[in-house]
Amino acid sequence: MSTSVDHREWDYSKSKQRVFNVTSHICTFLFLNVLFTFAVFNAILQWLKSLFVRLNRKETPTDPKSKAELKLIPDLNYYFRLYGLQVNTYDVTTDDGYVLTIQRIIDPQESAEDRAKRLPILCVHGLLQSSGSFCSSGKQSLAYYFHQQGYDVWLGNNRCGFEAKHTFLSPSDHKMWDWDIIDMAQKDLPALIEHVLISCDSQAESVTLVCHSQGTTQGFITLDSDKFGLSSKINCFVALSPAVFGGELLEKRLFIRFIAWMSLKKFFFGINSFIPFAMTMRKYIGTSKAYCQLSYMMFNYLFDWNDTLWDQDLKCRHFLFSPVYVSMKLMAWWLNSKEGFNQSKAILEPKKQWFDSTTPPIFLVIPTQDLLVDGRSLVGHMKSYEPECRYSYIYLENYSHLDVLWSKSVIDDVGVPIINFLESEVYK
Ligand SMILES: *[C@@H]1O[C@H](CO)[C@@H](O)[C@H](O)[C@H]1NC(C)=O
Ligand SMILES: *[C@@H]1O[C@H](CO)[C@@H](O)[C@H](O)[C@H]1NC(C)=O
Ligand SMILES: *[C@@H]1O[C@H](CO)[C@@H](O)[C@H](O)[C@H]1NC(C)=O
Repeated sequence: MSTSVDHREWDYSKSKQRVFNVTSHICTFLFLNVLFTFAVFNAILQWLKSLFVRLNRKETPTDPKSKAELKLIPDLNYYFRLYGLQVNTYDVTTDDGYVLTIQRIIDPQESAEDRAKRLPILCVHGLLQSSGSFCSSGKQSLAYYFHQQGYDVWLGNNRCGFEAKHTFLSPSDHKMWDWDIIDMAQKDLPALIEHVLISCDSQAESVTLVCHSQGTTQGFITLDSDKFGLSSKINCFVALSPAVFGGELLEKRLFIRFIAWMSLKKFFFGINSFIPFAMTMRKYIGTSKAYCQLSYMMFNYLFDWNDTLWDQDLKCRHFLFSPVYVSMKLMAWWLNSKEGFNQSKAILEPKKQWFDSTTPPIFLVIPTQDLLVDGRSLVGHMKSYEPECRYSYIYLENYSHLDVLWSKSVIDDVGVPIINFLESEVYK
């Protein structure tokens, strides 16, 4: 894999940019209409199926929620204040000028002495997700649990995300969107880690990195041969739904194939962000039940995951913080580049050793129902090609891609094993 992105090709004349902007609006509009129609039919089928399933299923009761907790407010701080905590937000600027948002969970009552005892955990989200994905379930989330276990929890966001901010580029400038996963691994991840190490009160020299999906891809790209010199600053790498090998869905789902095919034809989705209309919707009607149902329907259809394991009271909270802005170039990297998941291939060269004894310990959390990425192949790779790397893994039966964050038993099934691994491998 190349270690830098070719930014030269991203030079389009003003007239070409205008043409792409107009055609992409029309094409995206048509695309969303067709997708919506299919998603509605799928939702009707799912509903009929669930009528039958519900008859045979006993709902496990969940914690009762207060009225305040059930409100839909697109602000993590609102929910954490209900528990006497605070979510502080900071800006971090990357080497190439992108302004990232990082958040930290703070107990305002805590003494400076106690705060200095907390060791840092940095969480990095998946594709189209944000920092919200680690804590939108409040008390039932991994971020909250890590904080309760005595860690200093930081929640990173990759470039553009909630709001595309740069030191001198503006979102309407196509140069703002000239990046893919290599930039995110090479620039965003080090900037986030550096910020945590400088700002944490414990004076730790390394962080525990907990990533989901595409966040794990950033981690794996970085740790492969310690490409960007970050290994010594990471004391443990926890990979939830690790995205190294592509899953079967990428070939099976017609719409994903279509996005893959069109991702290189600039007239269709344009050269800026991927379907910006979705974020406009979230901005204006993101706190309505209708938006939540619509988002769920689309994602359920596209990625085949469902809410069976989630706490229904919290379902709409997850969609307050997703989707977010990503570049079209990133989508093309994933679906139609030599390095990405084109034809379900792997993002690192298979049948080769990626890690050595200086690689931090790795903990893999593999949901076995995940059709988007193929975690079993990764475990197979670790067993066959990584004799020097300390690693462990768990398979979660019944779990799918997002259940590793949003299942109502995520603390018992995912949180506890992570903390156990940290205590046995890192903080012995
Ligand atoms: C993606 O896969 C298709 C089908 O095998 C192939 O024709 C195409 O060249 C691949 N694209 C890239 C960029 O590798
Ligand atoms: C939800 O997804 C799981 C696989 O992750 C599947 O076994 C189950 O049947 C699905 N439930 C519904 C109601 O579609
Ligand atoms: C997975 O689901 C099946 C069917 O609902 C259940 O019998 C089984 O105990 C579940 N497995 C785990 C590990 O929870």
